[in-house]
Amino acid sequence: MTKKILILPGDGIGQEVTSSAQEVLDYLMVENALDFSVTHMDVGGTAYEKHGSPLPADVLAEAKASDAILFGAVGAPQWDDLDWDHRPEQALLGLRKELELFANLRPAFLFNELASASPIKNHIIENLDILIVRELTGGIYFGEPRGLVTSESPHYAFNTMIYNEDEIRRIAKVAFEAAQKRNGKLCSVEKANVLEVSKFWRSIVSDMAKDYPDVELSHQLADNTAMQLVLNPNQYDVIVASNLFGDILSDIAATLSGSIGMLPSASLNSTSQGMYEPCHGSAPDIAGQNIANPIAMIASLAMALKYSLNEAKLAERIDNAIKTFIANGHRTKDISTDNNSLNTSEVAPLIIEILQNDSAN
Ligand code: IPM
Ligand code: MG
Repeated sequence: MTKKILILPGDGIGQEVTSSAQEVLDYLMVENALDFSVTHMDVGGTAYEKHGSPLPADVLAEAKASDAILFGAVGAPQWDDLDWDHRPEQALLGLRKELELFANLRPAFLFNELASASPIKNHIIENLDILIVRELTGGIYFGEPRGLVTSESPHYAFNTMIYNEDEIRRIAKVAFEAAQKRNGKLCSVEKANVLEVSKFWRSIVSDMAKDYPDVELSHQLADNTAMQLVLNPNQYDVIVASNLFGDILSDIAATLSGSIGMLPSASLNSTSQGMYEPCHGSAPDIAGQNIANPIAMIASLAMALKYSLNEAKLAERIDNAIKTFIANGHRTKDISTDNNSLNTSEVAPLIIEILQNDSAN
């Protein structure tokens, strides 16, 4: 059956990096006669300008009907003052919620050749390979009640951090299973010393550990994890965290790897449907200059092939091609240590050349 792929470039460098990923996808579709249909639509500020909404109804409907969504990035300062429902970020939050993409996989790994691009000392980050499993459809991002009250003095605003048992179990299950496939270590992160919701999270995750005797489970307070990620990141294999803590910790982890421009992510629901996006944002400061690093988006395409499109071998070939690309010394501006760097549009053709060679071998 035809697999449906929806490409949502969004704003800023989202446009440039998704077109690089599309070139790689187009090549693989021809090389392997893949039965994929590919559709493009607008989201974010771009969709707001053209259609009055960051997530138009037809885009949401198409997303729901797709097997994999390749999402570029959204947002730029010109839309910062829009009311809540029109902000570009609502596209992302809306898709996550409406498709129930509760499991966000954010790998953070280092290509050792790029260690000098990281702000952290080489010996600390060498061989870095962590997976952050972030809960993505609950917690304080979506908890009710929430709001701003201006009818009382002083004015106030509030949000609710809430998780039920089922939400904790389903994300912890993803994390335990990921640890089983990796190095067998899981660290669950919360603030059980302060928050009821965290204490509850810890008790549920502890309770589940008996079903995974092959996984070594630990618990850590989020502030400590933030520090430990910088001091000794190689103590981690898989980290599981709530929506808010996972958001913060995954930015720290991404930075360790030298450039946030290298890291992909997957957001999955309980079917094989998923949304795939680079960890970086829309980078309005460099948008349209043809200097963004499209590797994170190309690696996100690999995750889509693996998790939603049943093409794990092709995913592995892309990952290997990226390794070869780096080993061959190719660098975009964000990871270059001299003045020699590739433009965005030069990356996909080089990746394709590597793929052509590997298929010939
Ligand atoms: C992320 C981003 C989003 C989030 C924003 C853009 C809404 O920071 O995907 O990490 O907070 O989840
Ligand atoms: Mg974030």
